[in-house]
Amino acid sequence: VADTKQKLGNDVFQAAGVAQKYNCSLVRLDYQQEQGLVSSLPLGINQIKIQRSLTTSNVAVFVPFVTQELFQSGAAMYYGINAKSHNMIMLDRKQARCPNGLKLGTPGSGKSMSCKSEIVSVFLTTADDIFISDPEAEYYPLVKRLHGQVIKLSPTSRDYVNPLDINLNYSEDDSPLALKSDFVLSFCELVMGGKTGLEAIERTVIDRAVKAIYRPYLANPSPENMPILSDLHQALLDQHLPEADRVAQALDLYVSGSLNVFNHKTNVDIHNRLVAFDIKELGKQLKKLGMLIIQDQIWGRVTQNRSQGRATWYFADEFHLLLKEEQTAAYSAEIWKRFRKWGGVPTGATQNVKDLLSSPEIENILENSDFITLLNQASGDRKILSERLNLSADQQKCIDNSEPGEGLLIFENVVLPFSNPIPKNTQLYKIMTTRLSEVVEL
Ligand SMILES: Nc1ncnc2c1ncn2[C@@H]1O[C@H](COP(=O)(O)OP(=O)(O)OP(=O)(O)O)[C@@H](O)[C@H]1O
Ligand SMILES: [Mg+2]
Repeated sequence: VADTKQKLGNDVFQAAGVAQKYNCSLVRLDYQQEQGLVSSLPLGINQIKIQRSLTTSNVAVFVPFVTQELFQSGAAMYYGINAKSHNMIMLDRKQARCPNGLKLGTPGSGKSMSCKSEIVSVFLTTADDIFISDPEAEYYPLVKRLHGQVIKLSPTSRDYVNPLDINLNYSEDDSPLALKSDFVLSFCELVMGGKTGLEAIERTVIDRAVKAIYRPYLANPSPENMPILSDLHQALLDQHLPEADRVAQALDLYVSGSLNVFNHKTNVDIHNRLVAFDIKELGKQLKKLGMLIIQDQIWGRVTQNRSQGRATWYFADEFHLLLKEEQTAAYSAEIWKRFRKWGGVPTGATQNVKDLLSSPEIENILENSDFITLLNQASGDRKILSERLNLSADQQKCIDNSEPGEGLLIFENVVLPFSNPIPKNTQLYKIMTTRLSEVVEL
């Protein structure tokens, strides 16, 4: 208590200075000391009516919805933290209108890493099946660690997958053959190469051959009756037409020539719920075929799983390999459309945004993906994507020179900046990294 008026004045001045430091201004309560004291006691009684004006910026502090959040309940999985609000991002792709996904970013931006961490979440939180198409042989340590199955397809390996495998659920229609014939056409188209694709007559002879080779299996669906490529080759020759011969000639390299890896009955039992197809050692031409065949195998599993009510996740790394070639791209676009209805959750990871927009058919893939992870982008791609996805200038900053594992997450109509760094000192990091210096031999 001050003993002189002068001292009191000084004390008040000092107190106001302290309050000022914390952005508060003191107001004198003339003739209201008692009410002031009562109001300051923890009684919940306010006897002082003070009014002040609030400016817009002050009010904005109290508005909670300036940042968007993604926090779904149910079987939601962790996708990192919201870089703005620092809240967790939890979402369940299977709840989306369309669960298809894409991961886009420059090399080294963390696409594969993001696939891998998603795979771990799916593996641990669901009972779904997971398939990986792995052209770089980099999923091996992770899949092994989770006791999954790695199927290595290479000209020298003894693991065989038959491209002509079919199951009776293969298609929605009565006949599974129509769809299979579509696949065989894409396969032959890729084998024959050329810009123009297959001619009408060639398509007809292939379709006829497909019908012929599946007849024994459809009559008696046991594994011995499953046709292989050499049956297709023979069925083409049997037609004695120049067009059929031409296709057969092209297939010859894959039937009796040096690229005959795919001319065998499937000898791996694809039973595991986590399966990676390692196709690194298939040469350039075979790799595309390999990816096409894997997609078809996975489709086969999707159709089987549907009858058991189980979802099937499919991760296609280096997706641009499939998009570059017209035929494989068209088949992938088809998969993107078909998978959803059958409980499939496909995800493609690619560094080439331009490939994704090269034709209206492939653009469908982008349009039919409700889950997009945008990692660091090159400036050209950033511009294209911003236009396509309506990104604001602020949002674009999140994918400009961002760190690995950081970027934008787009889920249905929500766009969030996210960050999902995986600590380097964890076991998970060690089995997921692709940096040569960090890759450990397991
Ligand atoms: N979420 C993350 N947390 C921590 N480090 C990361 C993360 N994502 C990526 N990295 C680092 O970046 C490296 C490259 O990541 P990744 O292999 O996923 O790149 P990519 O985009 O698949 O590249 P490419 O196009 O060449 O396949 C990883 O080995 C890791 O060291
Ligand atoms: Mg990668």
